[in-house]
Amino acid sequence: MTAARPGHRSDSSAPALGGFTAGQLVQLCDVAGLEAPDAEIYAHVLIDTLGPLAERPLDRPPPFDSFLSDDHTPVEFSLSFLPGKAPSLRLLLEPGCGAGGLRQTGRTGLDVIREMAQRWDFSTGQLDKLEDLFFPSSPEGPFALWCALELRPGGVPKVKVYLNPAASGQERSAGTVREALRRLGHKQAFANLPQADGYPFLALDLGDWDTPRVKVYLRHDDLSEEEAGRLPRTSPGPGSAEVQGFFRTAAGLKPGDGPDVRLRGRPVLSCHAFTEATTGLPSGFTLHVPIRDYVRHDGEALARAVTVLRRHGMDPSPLLGSLAAVTTRRPRDGVGLIAYLALTHQHGRPPRVTTYISSEAYAVRPPVAVPAHQGETVH
Ligand code: TRP
Repeated sequence: MTAARPGHRSDSSAPALGGFTAGQLVQLCDVAGLEAPDAEIYAHVLIDTLGPLAERPLDRPPPFDSFLSDDHTPVEFSLSFLPGKAPSLRLLLEPGCGAGGLRQTGRTGLDVIREMAQRWDFSTGQLDKLEDLFFPSSPEGPFALWCALELRPGGVPKVKVYLNPAASGQERSAGTVREALRRLGHKQAFANLPQADGYPFLALDLGDWDTPRVKVYLRHDDLSEEEAGRLPRTSPGPGSAEVQGFFRTAAGLKPGDGPDVRLRGRPVLSCHAFTEATTGLPSGFTLHVPIRDYVRHDGEALARAVTVLRRHGMDPSPLLGSLAAVTTRRPRDGVGLIAYLALTHQHGRPPRVTTYISSEAYAVRPPVAVPAHQGETVH
């Protein structure tokens, strides 16, 4: 008998991408405390957003090397934790993925966002102001547009859009970010960002947010704990000790590893969020550690995530539930299910911990004997 298992050759009864990921989503909604009718609405939103790709059987390879996840599934989940509350569930998607070329993918992505804006009655004004910068006629880079949906009770999500600062050329990324911030009224924001090795994403909150944010993601190659502690430009910001403690735990540094040990694998990202333009200072700071590059298997990633959650007074059980919701494999039997671990400080709120959960619709990466990258000291 051939079982129709994703990622394996099988007969035509292989599940389709849409059905598979929607099934994961319904289970995750349960873990996050969303009611069944909301879960059903969101499962349809997921399938609609994927478009024709939703029907594609999983025994056919991904049609496009989506950079959204390591196995090219154009869907990723995340659970965001605050102390004393149920975690919020989010869905990251590449609409128009496989629409044929980056230009077409971007156009489809914009159409999808505008349809969402009509359906949920929000303005795309901020996005419209940036269209020529991020959707040129010959776009470059690893993606054109992603959208993230924060799945609230009631069936109407909060919407975020991720844009690619390299769209008009890698060498113009910094200028594109600066110009985008200027057009959105954040004239001094760029000057307040720390030094970076790249500008992977610019994100906008669209729709029904209390304080919509513009977020600038920065890439930091070979970052050390000491340098991570100096990244936040928020005031009041998280203290360097808190950021460093998170960095150490997420990266799995040993007690003997000094603060100058560098992460030489996939780079750490920082994100500064801007909400008001008076001071030019950011109101939020996040450190994203790509934990999957610094563990042997997901059992290790899970243990570190649990440590971080407990340290911040958060109940880790929904994280355990979320892994069981997306896969039947044991955490130690693969690596990459927990893609990133992130710690956010937003002005006036308690710290938030976010765990990014891969779908693994196409492939599971096998565990490794030693982490793909370990911290290395510079001599
Ligand atoms: N897969 C990409 C990366 O690893 C983009 C990405 C997906 C990402 N989820 C993310 C980046 C969460 C930061 C945080 O960079």
